[in-house]
Amino acid sequence: MDKPKLAGSKPAVLDLEPGSYACCACGLSQDQPWCDGSHKGTGFSPKMLTVETRKTYALCMCKHSAAMPLCDGTHSKLPKEE
Ligand code: FES
Repeated sequence: MDKPKLAGSKPAVLDLEPGSYACCACGLSQDQPWCDGSHKGTGFSPKMLTVETRKTYALCMCKHSAAMPLCDGTHSKLPKEE
């Protein structure tokens, strides 16, 4: 698997409490946007997000952001089907 699977075409916008979050980077998790271990054997690893204070985050669902696990707007430039 050389490219991540698109898990969505828009970010997941969520209010997150302080803590550490393992975010899916491969796109295969059934618990998006979180890692469920599905990356095993793909060469991908989850991206960690540390939240210091409660805040709204836009988490990348297309898995092509250069700022993973956060959305950087790349999803708007991707072809509709990959
Ligand atoms: S959802 Fe991936 S860059 Fe926005």
